[in-house]
Amino acid sequence: MAATEKQPVTGAGPFNGILTWVDERYPLMSTWKAHLAEYYAPKNFNFWYYFGSLAMLVLVLQIVTGIVLTMHYKPDAAQAFASVEYIMRDVPWGWLIRYMHSTGASALFVCVYLHMFRAMLYGSYRKPRELLWIFGMLIFLCLMAEGFFGYLLPWGQMSYWGAQVIVNLFAAIPIVGPDIAIWIRGDYVVSDATLNRFFAFHVIAVPLVLLGLVAAHLLALHEVGSNNPDGIEIKNLKDPKTGIPLDGIPFHPYYTVKDIFGAAVFMFVFAVIVFFAPEFGGYLLEYNNFIAADPLRTPQHIAPVWYFTPYYSILRSFTVNFFWIDAKIWGVAAMGVSTLIFFLLPWLDRSPAKSIRYRGPIYKTALAVFVVCFLILGYLGTLSVNEGRTIVAQICTALYFLFFLLMPWYTTIDKCMPEPERVTK
Ligand code: HEM
Repeated sequence: MAATEKQPVTGAGPFNGILTWVDERYPLMSTWKAHLAEYYAPKNFNFWYYFGSLAMLVLVLQIVTGIVLTMHYKPDAAQAFASVEYIMRDVPWGWLIRYMHSTGASALFVCVYLHMFRAMLYGSYRKPRELLWIFGMLIFLCLMAEGFFGYLLPWGQMSYWGAQVIVNLFAAIPIVGPDIAIWIRGDYVVSDATLNRFFAFHVIAVPLVLLGLVAAHLLALHEVGSNNPDGIEIKNLKDPKTGIPLDGIPFHPYYTVKDIFGAAVFMFVFAVIVFFAPEFGGYLLEYNNFIAADPLRTPQHIAPVWYFTPYYSILRSFTVNFFWIDAKIWGVAAMGVSTLIFFLLPWLDRSPAKSIRYRGPIYKTALAVFVVCFLILGYLGTLSVNEGRTIVAQICTALYFLFFLLMPWYTTIDKCMPEPERVTK
């Protein structure tokens, strides 16, 4: 439509004039309508639907606090640790910004894990949302990279040795591994060169990709429409006169209000942690990281932050060499596959029902076992290894992979209930 054919904006009081002026030059009202005021979302969203908007909120919080931290932080192996101490003690409100950023990193992973779990509850990755899911998985991989690069920056003992361990994993890749490890570090050990490049990735490269992926994620969502706890497509049943889905409500104001409520509750919990327990017993900020990096002193126990520990446990659960291939290589491969396998969910799941509400007992049990194994692996990953823990980790690793590998079979034989025509509650 030509700009001149647009209707003047009404109902915005004293802003009608300026909005009309902008709208004649930019698709302001049409974007507002398409994505908020006239984006029809299912009317039965529940608790699990808070975490997408919360993830967005925390991502913004990370970017804003990150920018302020960058104003005072020094990406230099000789100054990094001291610059973080300076932020904590001398920069006005520096302690708050730093604790918001360190707590925010964990909060983002909490939101994203719950957000992904919701998709597994309601089959939100299934047709037609496969691309939405793939964008989500790419976001997840970027977030892991972002967390990994950021963790080196305070240049504490855990930063240093954690990076050393993870980069050394790449060295296990046959033939090209050692060269890849040197290429990542920019040196034969983790050093100033490594810190500089990790800083560049953490502060600009990965956040740019992340923001682009989040935009793609939301565009894909608005193209196909939201799923819901009943797992049925509201677009299939529209009012013949208006073309509006019968079970849909406008995102704004209904879900903007819901999300603002969620944000308020979240910010309260977040503030309690930031003000009263920012280290959270060593789970959010590890005690060893309050000691400056010392390349000559390896800490007795090296463990990643909690959001990486399930995969770390999977890595450590491979202890024997198979087919002349070193256990370490199997471990690294299994760790990689354990995250990448989520990409395949839309094609592994053959259930006639999308939502857990209408699925049979087998999927319900499989999902429950998977979640318990994931939590146990996460916990074990924070501890040092012994024989008993390794056996438990091995059992959980086997069940973790069986959840995915047997999915095409058990989702077809499961006894599902018929899905309703209209959304229920
Ligand atoms: C920074 C990270 C992320 C942000 C900001 C984000 C944002 C959002 C938002 C705002 C929604 C719509 C509201 C909602 O359904 O809760 C959404 C939906 C969705 N997201 Fe994400 N997301 C992120 C990461 C992920 C990841 C890692 C995955 C999966 C691998 C994922 C998969 C999905 C799916 C399947 C939906 C549709 C859910 C449904 O309609 O039931 N997202 N996302």
